[in-house]
Amino acid sequence: MSLANGRHYLAIPGPSVMPDRVLQAMHRPAPNIYTGELVDMVHGLVPDLKAVARTGHHVAMYIANGHGAWEAALTNTLSRGDKILVLGTGRFCLGWGEFAAAMGVDCQVIDFGQQSDVDLARVAEVLKADADHDIKAVMAVQVDTSTSVKNDIRGLRDVLDTVGHPALLFSDNIACLACDEFHMDDWGVDLMVTGSQKGLMTPPGMGFVFFNDKADRARAEANLVTPYWDWRPRVEVTEFYRYFNGTAPTHHLYGLRTALDMIAEEGLENVWARHRTLAKAVWAAIDVWGQAGPVRANIVEEDKRSCAVTTVNFGPGNGQRLRDWMTAEAGVTLGIPLGGVEGPGGDPADFLRIGHMGHVNTHMVLGVLGSLQAGMAALQIPHGPTGLEAAMKVIAEA
Ligand SMILES: Cc1ncc(COP(=O)(O)O)c(C=O)c1O
Repeated sequence: MSLANGRHYLAIPGPSVMPDRVLQAMHRPAPNIYTGELVDMVHGLVPDLKAVARTGHHVAMYIANGHGAWEAALTNTLSRGDKILVLGTGRFCLGWGEFAAAMGVDCQVIDFGQQSDVDLARVAEVLKADADHDIKAVMAVQVDTSTSVKNDIRGLRDVLDTVGHPALLFSDNIACLACDEFHMDDWGVDLMVTGSQKGLMTPPGMGFVFFNDKADRARAEANLVTPYWDWRPRVEVTEFYRYFNGTAPTHHLYGLRTALDMIAEEGLENVWARHRTLAKAVWAAIDVWGQAGPVRANIVEEDKRSCAVTTVNFGPGNGQRLRDWMTAEAGVTLGIPLGGVEGPGGDPADFLRIGHMGHVNTHMVLGVLGSLQAGMAALQIPHGPTGLEAAMKVIAEA
């Protein structure tokens, strides 16, 4: 007997669950790529993508995953030998910095570790010390998917302004666009990268670089720019073919169109609020489980946790054991630990990550939490017994 038979559920921090509407939108014969519906539809995607990023500036679309969007961002703004400041709070910003370093960019890295957000005061010190303004860009993630920390991107803008430093502000929102609140223009972000497969509820394979005019001015000087990644033809579109510097990802585009419609129908504020409430339900369960056992959220302070993903320490070896149990007995795949998230005295096998991003609702999240609680009981992992009740209370009171 397996209790896992039934619809399998993917609760990893991306790719996220795709809505049936998105799947249905993609289920169609090859469309005309020269004129007609597809071409008209893609022009309309641009303003809707910008609305989700809360920007009135530019967006370049790529056939690429998030790593491709990283590279596009770097090539369009930097030159070999330029210096940037990389703010590590987990695997991903460090990874973006490693890409930059491999391209000949001089990266000054501040690593804040696996359980902390960016310390704005330390960033201010480094920027103040850079009297000649050698640092061309400050690079951060809004949410690091490995640690599940959420950084204060608006606070970084305040630091740059207070210090009077002209560096560009780059934000990686691959994990959290359309999950955690974000306002590109109001927060003074010069460049933001994201991908299709998380909050945008579309299959992996599209990357997006949003940029303002200041970032575009850097493009004029950048000697790393290459023809494929160049964002200019993608925003100054003279013919449809140029949006993607080649053949468009036809079926992704239909899926994305529907996903953006769904976000607009719900309202972006409501999408953020849904993620916030569901995340609070996850945290409430973890807090109660931890009252009588080793279970701990990796990020201690709630306001520094992402509403899209939660990294959890279940105690020695238990992350791995629970993930295996969840797959075998509950039909749920949870996220593997990433980037050496170890916590004090810990081991990656202690951890797992719960994805609660995109097309998620009450029954999906409570299903995961109830299954986790059953798994802890089955595996005799000590835990406070009323975690699920605490999560249900959050939902009921919302
Ligand atoms: C914050 C962040 N940045 C970058 C990436 C890399 O994106 P991709 O796997 O699509 O290349 C991810 C993927 O999980 C991510 O979460």
